[in-house]
Amino acid sequence: MQLNKIHNADCIQILKNEIEKESVQLIFADPPYNLSGNGLKSTGSTTGGDFNMVNEDWDKMEEQEFIEFTNDWVASCKEVLKPNGSIFIACSYHNMGESIMSLKLNGFEIKNIITWNKSNAMPNLTRRVLTHTTEFVIWAVKGKGWIFNYDVLKELNPEKKKDGTHKQMRDIWTMPLCQGKERLRDETTNKALHPTQKPEELLKRIILGFSNEGDLVLDPFGGSGTTPFIAKKYGRDYIAIEREKKYADAIEMRLSQI
Ligand SMILES: C[S@@+](CC[C@H](N)C(=O)[O-])C[C@H]1O[C@@H](n2cnc3c(N)ncnc32)[C@H](O)[C@@H]1O
Repeated sequence: MQLNKIHNADCIQILKNEIEKESVQLIFADPPYNLSGNGLKSTGSTTGGDFNMVNEDWDKMEEQEFIEFTNDWVASCKEVLKPNGSIFIACSYHNMGESIMSLKLNGFEIKNIITWNKSNAMPNLTRRVLTHTTEFVIWAVKGKGWIFNYDVLKELNPEKKKDGTHKQMRDIWTMPLCQGKERLRDETTNKALHPTQKPEELLKRIILGFSNEGDLVLDPFGGSGTTPFIAKKYGRDYIAIEREKKYADAIEMRLSQI
């Protein structure tokens, strides 16, 4: 299959039929969390606008369908991963259970669950639960010999010891939601182009920490293209799959800027 390309298609079809078996070193999957439709609607609020941020058709499934879908794409990812490959799955409490269950059912070994502490998380308007400030990224491996660039991750850790040297990278990563110049915007409305664009720093740590230059990185749920963008920037080959044409086009545009 042609590398360094965006596939505007369903990921399961591409994973099953087009990608060479055992060719991928690293997968970052940021799948539907199945949380849409339950958000708090506050359109046009003077305190910041519409808080029902994720309300997308691709993010709504019945529970049984969601379990089967998760299992299907996780199984398909395993087929294309190298024997020493790693998979990272982004999740929140909405889809963490299904993600862990599918990884276990498919024989993956979970190595860490990274907690993303969102330093600019959205306010809790209901005041009926604790304010949600975290998402998670599950790291799992297919077999032995996985890549773990300990020193690179240590260098990337902003936390330092008293003597000025970097601390070991821990499993809690504090960084803001994607904002400012990094956030892709619709040219006509100036609204965020994609509702769940991940921060580049998150992908930088994962790609530099768990793959080497020249390795193949795959993202089955491309979105705004953060994974292929960072992969290309740091000399990795990439395959990104995105079902929605407007997002696939946005990825092409984003990549053309490197
Ligand atoms: C959570 S978002 C990914 C965001 C991405 N990580 C970023 O930084 O922009 C999930 C994306 O997967 C796409 N998607 C959903 N189901 C899909 C499927 N079956 N195959 C391919 N893409 C799919 C959606 O259109 C959406 O853009």
